[in-house]
Amino acid sequence: MKNVQSIIASMTLEEKAALCTGATPWTTTAVERLGVPEMTVSDGPHGVRHVADVNTLVAASLPATCFPTASCTASTWDVDLLREMGQALAEECIALKVDVVLGPGTNMKRSPLGGRNFEYFSEDPYLAGQVAAAFIEGVQSKGVGTSLKHYAVNNQEFRRMTISAELDERTLREIYLSAFETAVKKAKPWTVMCAYNKVNGSYCSENHKLLTEILKEEWGFEGLVVSDWGAVHDRVASLQAGLDLEMPGPKPRRTKAVVEAVRSGKLDESVLNEAVRRILEIVFKAAKTPKGGNFDIDAHHALARRIAAEGMVLLKNDGLLPLKNPQHIAVIGRAAQTAHFQGGGSSHINPTLVDSPFKELQKLAGNAELNYVEGYSASGESSQALIEQAIQNARSADVALLYIALPESKESEGHDRSDIDLTPQQVALIKAVTAVQPKTVVILNNGAPVAMGDWIGGVAAVLEAWMMGQAGGGAIADVLYGRANPSGKLAETFPLRLIDTPAYLNFPGENGEVRYGEGLFIGYRYYDARQIPVQFPFGYGLSYTTFAYGNPKVSTTSFKDVDGVTVSVQVTNTGKVAGKEIVQVYVHDHKSGLVRSPKELKAFAKVALKPGETKTVSLHLDFRAFAYYHPAYRQWITEDGEFDLLIGASSADIRCTQTVTLQSTLELPSLLDRESTLRDWLEDPRGQHVFGPLFQQVYAQIQATFGGGEGSEGIGMEVSDFAMDMPLLDVFEFQENTLPASPEEMVAELLAQVHGKGQ
Ligand code: BGC
Repeated sequence: MKNVQSIIASMTLEEKAALCTGATPWTTTAVERLGVPEMTVSDGPHGVRHVADVNTLVAASLPATCFPTASCTASTWDVDLLREMGQALAEECIALKVDVVLGPGTNMKRSPLGGRNFEYFSEDPYLAGQVAAAFIEGVQSKGVGTSLKHYAVNNQEFRRMTISAELDERTLREIYLSAFETAVKKAKPWTVMCAYNKVNGSYCSENHKLLTEILKEEWGFEGLVVSDWGAVHDRVASLQAGLDLEMPGPKPRRTKAVVEAVRSGKLDESVLNEAVRRILEIVFKAAKTPKGGNFDIDAHHALARRIAAEGMVLLKNDGLLPLKNPQHIAVIGRAAQTAHFQGGGSSHINPTLVDSPFKELQKLAGNAELNYVEGYSASGESSQALIEQAIQNARSADVALLYIALPESKESEGHDRSDIDLTPQQVALIKAVTAVQPKTVVILNNGAPVAMGDWIGGVAAVLEAWMMGQAGGGAIADVLYGRANPSGKLAETFPLRLIDTPAYLNFPGENGEVRYGEGLFIGYRYYDARQIPVQFPFGYGLSYTTFAYGNPKVSTTSFKDVDGVTVSVQVTNTGKVAGKEIVQVYVHDHKSGLVRSPKELKAFAKVALKPGETKTVSLHLDFRAFAYYHPAYRQWITEDGEFDLLIGASSADIRCTQTVTLQSTLELPSLLDRESTLRDWLEDPRGQHVFGPLFQQVYAQIQATFGGGEGSEGIGMEVSDFAMDMPLLDVFEFQENTLPASPEEMVAELLAQVHGKGQ
């Protein structure tokens, strides 16, 4: 590694300022005289979108493998597979001479309407964090960098460049930052990309708290922070906040502003030097990996097929699947011929090849007769003629396969969906076909949940095939014919109706702001807490085999938070074919100081089992599995008490429960202050110690004052609750003439004892 410090010392102010803004839309600025090369970045995340001419922002990109998008990869719950995909992406980056791939994106799916949900993993921060980390580890293990994006609270496209996400600190930490935190700490991405939006009024690109205090100082992020493309408004303010590299370039105006700010003393040169240091470290790290050569197109296509099959989720199956060699198959729906396998926007990959779902089906169908009709048009317009054709086709077949893809225009960067429905034509088509052919399978291509209530009752099976990547057509055939036993499970809840969803009343905001009014309660946290029925719960997915859970155990029933606890369960394949089960562990806190979700995912494992085989799955739960973020303490805390460990096949299918007792090792400062109530004083151990002895006397006086005295009904008010919720200071105000000192002095004295001052 070059000596970065000596290079910085040799750089002119202009060179330093220039390094902090891109030279082109996709490359950083080289400093040739000092041997600093340029670094090339390209979009992802589920493929490499490298434009041949780095001087153009939007242009056709070079062919690369289009892997399934994040909705699908997260549904694999297979971190090893994500790692493998990351390695393949890195090989393509190397061949295409790309140093850093701009992904993965790990924002939460707050509303199913979010336009980029297909690029994001989950509604659950634990799952999203684990899969993002695995993806990053895979890419970076080959000496190629990643850009974890979009940091932070980027959950919608509506007014995406200016909207302010308004949320409380605890929700920010537990839900919206947590996956980033896991990925940063575990996998150390080379770069983190800041989001366009504001968080609580401050642009992410100028947000010192997010970029410096939390990301760099608290989490120890050592890489560079890059702006989303065009997210910088004030370059000097963004540098001060911790944004190291602005993209895209060139932007001489920015360089000038930075130079002038240093000269005028507005910007401390050490701030610029630190950004330069971070950029140089990554540029030299990237340069260590020789670029060029080829990648194995066929091997990567095969991997894309494997991942797609592994991420598809079998949502319903009355036994029709896997297909048992039907001789006449009605293939209905244009997505059977024209694969719908990715979404619109910056992640749009130019695929190396694309599987035709129809042709791949044909390959596995042997001598069966396949008849195709379009069913619905690309434009989405309703057509009774297409429905009539489909009915004819389905009626005479042994089985109907309905390939239903959401119109491309529905899911794209740049805008949110306005509903979660299939098109009216598609719904009418499904209903018409199932009316004449009960043996109908619906195969869905979409990047986020769709409502199914209108039609699911009539179909025999539903396969969620997602935006399945370029090899998805083959993967569908593999699953339909049982060459792959489906083992994906939902990484997000499928609601029954849009109006049931947690952010419904607050999405996408107005007046420049979007209020995260549902707080911690997104996804299953919300449906669980409110007991709202859903179409399919988080963590749900069927298999062609069945699994039994038994013999749950914990390493200890009582443990210290810092030690954690290990939970194990035996899982048996009780069916006739090999399959994979995703075992999930949720934690339920019996009692907590602040409100918590009924359950939170804290561990999972995917286990492959032959028929009849049993394996023991052991999962460790650490401090963070039990902790929550306490805004008053400004840290993650644990509390003594009992927790249920819920071992399940989905968030709604808990198979075994173990109850454990946690002892917190934290010594937290007292939160008592001038506004603390009598109840607060008595519940706080130190408060109880100093105020306890005075309590009876104080309380008797309250009763005398507000209770109307003995034998009187007073004013018909229950004094005890009322009194316990009064701040001690206010209580003393009413008792002023009986006190040895003023109420303020009395409380100050007690607080001094509690906080250990003045003794
Ligand atoms: C997107 C990023 C992308 C960048 C570069 C932005 O509009 O939000 O995800 O990496 O463009 O194309």
